Amino acid sequence: MPILDKVSQKMATKMASSEEEPLPKLPVPPLQQTLATYLKCMQHLVPQEQFRKSQAIVRRFGAPGGLGETLQQKLLERQQKTDNWVSEYWLHDMYLNNRLALPVNSSPALIFARQHFYDTNDQLRFAASLISGVLSYKALLDSHSIPTDCAKGQLSGQPLCMKQYYGLFSSYRLPGHTKDTLVAQKSSVMPEPEHVIVACRDQFFVLDVVINFRRLSEGDLFTQLRKIVKLASGEDQRLPPIGLLTTDGRSEWAAARTALVKDSTNRDSLDMIERSICLVCLDAPGGGDLSDTSRALQLLHGGGCSKNGANRWYDKSLQFVVGRDGTCGVVCEHSPFDGIVLVQCTEHLLAHMMQSSKKLVRADSVSELPAPRRLRWKCSPEIQSHLASSAEKLQQIVKNLDFTVYKFEGYGKTFIKKQKCSPDAFIQVALQLAFYRLHGRLVPTYESASIRRFREGRVDNIRSATAEALAFVRAVVDHKADIPDQEKLQLLRDAIRAQTEYTVMAITGMAIDNHLLALRELAWDLCKEPPEMFTDETYLMSNRFVLSTSQVPTTMEMFCCYGPVVPNGYGACYNPQAEAILFCVSSFHSCKETSSLEFAKAMEASLADMRNLCSAPQPAPGQPPATKEEGPRPRSGPLTLTSNHH
Ligand code: COA
Repeated sequence: MPILDKVSQKMATKMASSEEEPLPKLPVPPLQQTLATYLKCMQHLVPQEQFRKSQAIVRRFGAPGGLGETLQQKLLERQQKTDNWVSEYWLHDMYLNNRLALPVNSSPALIFARQHFYDTNDQLRFAASLISGVLSYKALLDSHSIPTDCAKGQLSGQPLCMKQYYGLFSSYRLPGHTKDTLVAQKSSVMPEPEHVIVACRDQFFVLDVVINFRRLSEGDLFTQLRKIVKLASGEDQRLPPIGLLTTDGRSEWAAARTALVKDSTNRDSLDMIERSICLVCLDAPGGGDLSDTSRALQLLHGGGCSKNGANRWYDKSLQFVVGRDGTCGVVCEHSPFDGIVLVQCTEHLLAHMMQSSKKLVRADSVSELPAPRRLRWKCSPEIQSHLASSAEKLQQIVKNLDFTVYKFEGYGKTFIKKQKCSPDAFIQVALQLAFYRLHGRLVPTYESASIRRFREGRVDNIRSATAEALAFVRAVVDHKADIPDQEKLQLLRDAIRAQTEYTVMAITGMAIDNHLLALRELAWDLCKEPPEMFTDETYLMSNRFVLSTSQVPTTMEMFCCYGPVVPNGYGACYNPQAEAILFCVSSFHSCKETSSLEFAKAMEASLADMRNLCSAPQPAPGQPPATKEEGPRPRSGPLTLTSNHH
């Protein structure tokens, strides 16, 4: 019995007890509190005149006996009736209603440390070990033996909701004409999936992982993968790169899928992919250098259709990429789970692989296992034309992404903790400073905050562009010379405090975004006309996140990245380590105002400024603060900007 399966049995007992206590339900924040916070979040981000108008709208909405109170009452009733009053609204708003293509716009990627594969066999051994890890992990999930996660950092120790884990290998995002559907396979209704789909040279193969009631060993999997590579190399058998269709806009893919399912061969092939455990993409070399940035791009969009862009099936929740050139990682369809769960699962798999790499896996020379089956596609001229259009749009996605991985090596969490600050809040303030440096203004910012302390909790938003952050960045950028450092340091501490307070508010279920979303959705049902509260320009603007940020920490050598969520925006994913902070910055070339490289440079300058402020000498009690010319100022240490501008 594999080690993990033994571990799983032991853990099953532990889990059973923790499952008896259901987590608390997500609270509904008081209406007036949310409205006041909303105004506070937006006041300094919009012109004064616009704010006054919005203030009046909010006042009417929240007036006694007004629409706000009616909706709040409906929401409280919904809270009683459901496990989580926001999860369904949130899933649709955040993912399923979004019509944009999944690569870059929605699906994040986790990039592993670069692997060194001497030959194709090495690549396939890695893939076999990974699949074997997936099967062991899935066995743990199936027996509900994954130990319950506990909150770390702020308000640590509380148990967290584990529901997302059960969507890792059993979900599929079905494209729809107006909205998608998240299909969750339930073992009681459907047979358990017992196959993985292997993509190789844009062809898809069914790799059965249980044959004659026996789970394939790593050696068996390796043998089967070798057969797949051989089958895929036969040029005469090559079929059109159907995976390209899944890279298109969701409505376009839905239209193509409607054409595809007219044929029963296609229906069977789709069915096999949709019911699979996951995809494993055996990629060809990406062709570029193997820097962090280049490898991340291979994962985010596959480099377009001439490279590995069609060697994907974006609707499937987990696509493990194992590239011949050592580019490896996971592309994830985000709707069933969040980054933290993905990292937990992946670190588990990598730990399993490290164990198994000690054994040398050999192929069976006379394998009696049936050869994996290639999925067949019948392509009508209509589908050919969809393919051509999807290919063209993928090229645009590839061309448009401006992406850079930047490792700040000046300091990390250790230094920040020594300042008695929350590292996450400190980094968020640095992001605000970087944005202000480049653009001279602050913008609605999204930072994901986990609400897994609550039943079926996913995330809410920490609005990091606080008024306190604005006061600080103005002091540093606009009043560089005329505000003493001690004053700037105080403004920095105020900004970090405000950020930390918002974080605590968000992770305890008191943030405003989910609340306003639920009120808005309830209003659609209740009102003939959309209420002014939700059509007001300030509200619309509050939901265009020009800066979309997320902390995705890892304990192993890997990092997460994703694209911006608006055309003029930045995606900024960061991984704080003890002595360094890794940033993945994305933006679009089509926007003339943004530049990922410039943003990375601005981050470097901002973190250096903040370190210098923290290290500035403190005035003796009763003494005036040191001015710029007075006290000695420590120089910033060696800050490396590993620029890989795309
Ligand atoms: N002084 C000294 N140390 C402090 C401190 C202070 N004032 N404040 C915090 N710390 C310590 C914490 O105790 C913690 O210590 P640890 O490293 O031993 O665990 C560490 O600093 C990190 O804490 P902090 O930086 O405050 O952040 P956090 O880990 O609590 O993270 C969020 C904050 C918002 C990122 C987190 O709550 C969260 O929600 N994460 C999920 C994000 C997510 O969903 N990402 C994926 C989206 S797809």
